[in-house]
Amino acid sequence: MADKLIIFDTTLRDGEQSPGASMTRDEKLRIARQLERLRVDVIEAGFAASSNGDFEAVKAIAGHVRESIVCSLARANDRDITRAAEALKGAARSRIHTFIATSALHMEKKLRMTPEQVHEQSRLAVRFARNLCADVEFSPEDGYRSDPDFLCRVLETVIAEGATTINVPDTVGYAVPELFGQFIKTLRERVPNSDKAVWSVHCHNDLGMAVANSLAGVMIGGARQIECTINGLGERAGNCSLEEVVMALRTRRDYFGLEVGVDATQIVPASRMVSQTTGFVIQPNKAVVGANAFAHASGIHQDGVLKARDTYEIMRAEDVGWSANKIVLGKLSGRNAFKQRLQELGVELESEGEVNAAFARFKDLADRKSEIFDEDIIALVSDESVSAEQEHYRLESLAQHSETGERPHASVVFKAGEVEHHAESDGNGPVDASLKAIESKVRSGAEMLLYSVNAITSGSTESQGEVTVRLQFGGRVVNGVGADPDIVVASAKAYLAALNKLHSNGERVAAQG
Ligand code: KIV
Ligand code: ZN
Repeated sequence: MADKLIIFDTTLRDGEQSPGASMTRDEKLRIARQLERLRVDVIEAGFAASSNGDFEAVKAIAGHVRESIVCSLARANDRDITRAAEALKGAARSRIHTFIATSALHMEKKLRMTPEQVHEQSRLAVRFARNLCADVEFSPEDGYRSDPDFLCRVLETVIAEGATTINVPDTVGYAVPELFGQFIKTLRERVPNSDKAVWSVHCHNDLGMAVANSLAGVMIGGARQIECTINGLGERAGNCSLEEVVMALRTRRDYFGLEVGVDATQIVPASRMVSQTTGFVIQPNKAVVGANAFAHASGIHQDGVLKARDTYEIMRAEDVGWSANKIVLGKLSGRNAFKQRLQELGVELESEGEVNAAFARFKDLADRKSEIFDEDIIALVSDESVSAEQEHYRLESLAQHSETGERPHASVVFKAGEVEHHAESDGNGPVDASLKAIESKVRSGAEMLLYSVNAITSGSTESQGEVTVRLQFGGRVVNGVGADPDIVVASAKAYLAALNKLHSNGERVAAQG
């Protein structure tokens, strides 16, 4: 039987570290459920000690996910590890992932610790974690740039203390495939008790080689776990992309010869959910999940694919979860049909009250848009998943006037908690006027870093516009996403969603801090 390769998803931890990608507890829970449908082996749900919000998110995920192992990150100290164990209490299967930097640069400049101190702290941390959890992963941060002799000593020690997985990060994305593969191989050969742990790789994408490096870590180095994120989300240039690595392993099984448990048909729904939740738009030519990944524009290619699909296609779109844009529902569809479609799309709403509220939004949308696609429904329930407590600001109504030669004007009614505000403003355009009207009351002082509009379903001006707004205030960066057939309304929703995030999320400690 082929060896099994463990897929460890860290979208909710390392992915979320990307500036602006921070997610609420409920958003994380929704994504965790999708990751479980995707059948990833391990879900790194967060970094419990970093903030109360992260603690609650890890706890909620541990309480809901039953199939995948739920993991929390922890720095190599008793407080962080205790916090991780507390958050994971309700999990069917849990893992504590503890880390400390081992490169000379990080030890000296960041930690201000000697190698001996780091060695001892690693030992104590793994010993402490093993008393709280049978499944303990250890990562030497900046492992790839660490001195191999020192690294081997540390890894031998933590395996002797009971670490069950050894994860080697290329924290800054400096590796190249062959050298990285050799590095893992050397470590496995030189650490005397290396066979007592599963070896894992964690690659960042600064030079665009995270997927190639991870696969080399597996093929040359013998690693049997890959850490990755949906859409390659992550700090700077991101992490190894789950969809690329999984589809490489499946499509070239003849070469890799490894078993992966992932249900690939859930890849595109997962990718969309992460993109819609974070506001990180997927580039059209992105492998596997980009809008053009299976589109054939040139006449020669189209002709070839029509004659025999495999002339230009190495994967089938439906195998990774692309469905043809289907008109699924319309104005006359009833609540049961709507509920059934939600189930088919793998969307679980918590209560009948939430289904009713989502159905009311659906009816409202169907009045304005004749054809409702799967993507519309997903956008609609993304709005719905914001719980009342996180939704401090809520749009009630918006009117705007624009005419050639006139300065546009907007009137916006929105709620802040229980207080209703009526706001008016002029602006350069109707969107500008609407957001200025909101800001005139909220006075957030936030700086806008990004404003972007995308059509949710392609090919027609009937599509809903999906707007992403990125705001920065007091060192925090947040994204808000809003969807509506009217892009001015979508913009106001996105702006209010970003303000809600600024309003609700507390401070957090950075994992690489
Ligand atoms: O990139 C990195 O080194 C990490 C560790 C915390 C595993 O994310
Ligand atoms: Zn990382």
